[in-house]
Amino acid sequence: MKISRLLLAVIVIGIFYSFFKIFFGIILKQPIPGSLFTMYMFFIIIGVLLVFSFTEQGAKELMSPIKDLLENPEKMMMRNVVFGIVTIFAGFITYQQVKPSFEAPLELRTIHPAPPSNISAYNKSYNLLTLENPFMKYKKEDPEKFKQLIYEGGEVYFKNCFYCHGDKLDGKGHYAHGFNPLPANFMDVGTIAQLQESYLFWRIATGGPGLPKEAAPWLSSMPVWQNFLSEEEIWKVILFLYDYTGYVPRSWEKH
Ligand code: HEC
Repeated sequence: MKISRLLLAVIVIGIFYSFFKIFFGIILKQPIPGSLFTMYMFFIIIGVLLVFSFTEQGAKELMSPIKDLLENPEKMMMRNVVFGIVTIFAGFITYQQVKPSFEAPLELRTIHPAPPSNISAYNKSYNLLTLENPFMKYKKEDPEKFKQLIYEGGEVYFKNCFYCHGDKLDGKGHYAHGFNPLPANFMDVGTIAQLQESYLFWRIATGGPGLPKEAAPWLSSMPVWQNFLSEEEIWKVILFLYDYTGYVPRSWEKH
């Protein structure tokens, strides 16, 4: 059986296509960026068409099934079906491009919404105005112990937080680029340097879902850490954040 030249051309293009998609994308797990892929396929299609239509005879053979379909009176049924499919396909592609996207528009959000005065976490209620870091007292009373607590806070950080907030606390963790809003950059003067420890406790314990209405849209990927960490661990990681960045938490009293 002789395969038509057109089918052969389609098969060759198909082989290249699956080579890129399956070999790179699935076997090597290194998918080629979409724009590059389009460019490669463009040149491959042009190249294949050039090779297959190099001679006069070849070009004729390549086009003959198409010509036959368009001109042969016996193929009317087939022709209508193909026209139908092509039309629907073109319509589908156009629809895909013009259909409204459901992605959230870029919106400004209140980065530091006013905290509620009372929050509940760990099945308790906390008054954020009076809540203090229970470990802060060791800074003066027992500097050795304080250092150890910071060290343990660092462990909490590198086991849980650095994926998003980065190993330099700059918000550039390896997951960070996948999130909008971006994970907070603790080195920036606009984040923890402006906040009280109780505010951090609130944000860490209740995460994105704990944000009040003003902070909507609630797209924050910040996890609800009360589900994974103990209260002590949260206070320790807070010590670590301030120690590493060198910032001093805001407080009501003057230091
Ligand atoms: C899945 C990614 C992710 C992980 C893991 C994560 N965070 Fe976040 N975090 C975010 C994002 C995104 C924001 C910014 C949006 C927001 O404020 O909720 C944020 C915000 C914060 C804020 C608020 C800062 C500010 O200026 O308001 C604090 C504090 C914080 N994270 C601490 C932590 C701590 C501590 C851990 C580890 C126990 C942690 N985060 C783990 C994604 C993450």
